[in-house]
Amino acid sequence: MKEVLLVVGAWIHLFASIVWVGGIFFILFAAFPGAKETLEQPGKLMGALSKRFAPLANISILFIFVTGILMSLSSHSLSEITSLGSAWSQALLVKIMLALIMTGIHFYRGLVVAPKITKLTAEGGRLENISGLQKQSLNLVKLNLLFGLTVLLITGILYAFRG
Ligand code: HEM
Repeated sequence: MKEVLLVVGAWIHLFASIVWVGGIFFILFAAFPGAKETLEQPGKLMGALSKRFAPLANISILFIFVTGILMSLSSHSLSEITSLGSAWSQALLVKIMLALIMTGIHFYRGLVVAPKITKLTAEGGRLENISGLQKQSLNLVKLNLLFGLTVLLITGILYAFRG
């Protein structure tokens, strides 16, 4: 039974990671360049895509943390993890901190920056203010891709030092 739970947990963890980090990768390297190339107002499409992607990312984040905690406790005891006495537990701490920063950036972008863009656009605000916010929003997505790729690298370190 424990094995079944672990397999399902690892599968969900992996799937949710693909949705979140893969979704960011797709937005930056396919959707955004494609929208810029073909549309006069690429921001409109990007806004609509972000709106659809946000709930998928939200649920992925929830699943990633729940299954991540389960997977951590299934292979190591709580005291082994919190004592930070091994390369594995130290790498896990860095991974959790990066995942928390990514989550913060994700929600800041979704709950603070994006509504500001929507409000300014609806009010017919100054174009340079809108495009400034859009640039800030894009930079936050880029930052999250960088952190996401670092988290994946740290996952490789976790495998190597699993013990
Ligand atoms: C951005 C967030 C995260 C991403 C992209 C991510 C990604 C991954 C991937 C791709 C794997 C390997 C596939 C698998 O075994 O299912 C993995 C394994 C793992 N993850 Fe995460 N993860 C994230 C956050 C977390 C968090 C927050 C925790 C803990 C609270 C965690 C704990 C683990 C553990 C313990 C493993 C197994 C490592 C081992 O075998 O020693 N992950 N993660």
